[in-house]
Amino acid sequence: MDITFKNDTRAEAVAVMATDGAVLLAAGQALDAKAGGALTRALGATRFTGALGQMVEIMAPANLDVGRVLVIGVGAQEKADGLAVERWAGHAVRRVLASGVETLALHAEGLGGVAAAEASARAAVGAGLAAYRFDAYRTKLKADQKPSLKEVVIVTESPAAAAKRHEPMAGLVEGVTFARDLVSEPPNVLHPPEFANRLKALESLGLEVQVLDVEAMAKLGMGALLGVGQGSVQGSRLVVMNWKGAKNKAAAPLAIVGKGVTFDTGGISLKPGAGMGDMKGDMGGAAAVAGAMMALAKRKAKANVVGLVGLVENMPDGNAQRPGDIVTSMSGQTIEVLNTDAEGRLVLADVVWYAQETFHPAAVVNLATLTGAIIVALGHEHAGIFSNNDALAADIADAGKAEGEPVWRLPLGPAYDKAIDTPFADMKNISGNTAGGSITGAQFIQRFVKDGMAWAHIDIAGVAWKPGPYEDPTSPAWATGYGVRLLNRLVANRYEE
Ligand code: BES
Ligand code: MN
Ligand code: ZN
Repeated sequence: MDITFKNDTRAEAVAVMATDGAVLLAAGQALDAKAGGALTRALGATRFTGALGQMVEIMAPANLDVGRVLVIGVGAQEKADGLAVERWAGHAVRRVLASGVETLALHAEGLGGVAAAEASARAAVGAGLAAYRFDAYRTKLKADQKPSLKEVVIVTESPAAAAKRHEPMAGLVEGVTFARDLVSEPPNVLHPPEFANRLKALESLGLEVQVLDVEAMAKLGMGALLGVGQGSVQGSRLVVMNWKGAKNKAAAPLAIVGKGVTFDTGGISLKPGAGMGDMKGDMGGAAAVAGAMMALAKRKAKANVVGLVGLVENMPDGNAQRPGDIVTSMSGQTIEVLNTDAEGRLVLADVVWYAQETFHPAAVVNLATLTGAIIVALGHEHAGIFSNNDALAADIADAGKAEGEPVWRLPLGPAYDKAIDTPFADMKNISGNTAGGSITGAQFIQRFVKDGMAWAHIDIAGVAWKPGPYEDPTSPAWATGYGVRLLNRLVANRYEE
């Protein structure tokens, strides 16, 4: 599907905006006048109020050279922001995507609070995200089930200005799409070596990509990560993606670290069967990091950022690690593995340590589908964030809010930390009860954060994928790509001039 900016309204379907009170913006008023008031009559025949996402579809209106007009609500004028415009455009695209319509024109400009070029650019973002599908393995889709939409025209009097504003956002949509695809891919296809191959291909964007295999990680002493993967026939991998976009290439980078468990059976502490297929998405943190690195490279971000993902498959096997095993992490700290299903923290322990040892970053932010408990606490609406640094936590919260990927902060503290002490080793990987399970996971990772290092852990178990119905049209499928936008914005706000 192509997205273009034009000063030209010809299309089979046209979408216009209405705000609260069912007030048509200028483009809608012009169409309404030409159609002899057909639009306002249609709105009047319904309970349309202009609330965000409400829609009245008017087919073949007289005197207009279009097959249909979509009047779509964008909500209250004073509240409608760039995200509202994205969702507005998303609703239009979802409506016609597989309708037979091939061309859609969007009139996104005219809101008081969103500048014209910004509105058009954000409409393009919303359209691009809303068109997402994962049909790679569907060989029997009928012709009328396949997308028909070929071109979305964003109608603007200044196509060049809108296109320029959109340029850095185009890569962002590609990054989100990349992350969604990685999360959606089945675990027999996307195992650690294949994941690493797909990341190696990002070198074409100007990223430096380095892949460490089992042997290399063994040399580094990564016993925690390697213990998780030892029951799998697929070798574990650590992938490092480096983007040096700052003027000073030697400036300390931001390190972003992702949990990449390509499938989590639980290992010997086997999970129950129901819903286990969802655990193909247990690499959502790694996908977010990869998507963000792609977006940063595509827009040539003026910052140094290093992305690291620990890729393992957690399987039960004759060679799998056992509850009771004690492993030695790269940091030298020993871990009693009392539950092989608390594996994400074991992976992160070594990758977070490696990131600090190797890159001396300005800050470390890790993303992980770490705990079911975060879903109990926050549902599918917020990710949980834990941090030792108030400024970093606030910057992450701001970035998430601006991008529609909200986070909610939860506490850390010595009383929680105590729960992972054990007489047999330096720590154990579970607390022994379910109380505050997400915090226990965060405390565990924090034991691998060096003194003085600004660090945040984002638990995305509830948001990396979502059960339907998919109410946000810009996230129309199971995998959300959560984190790509947040990280991209965090880099822009905190590290770019
Ligand atoms: N990958 C899971 C967490 C998860 C659960 C992600 C549901 C998405 C949806 C993680 O590895 C896990 O199994 N965590 C355990 C930790 C427990 C054993 C301390 C959990 O949440 O039950
Ligand atoms: Mn697990
Ligand atoms: Zn897991």
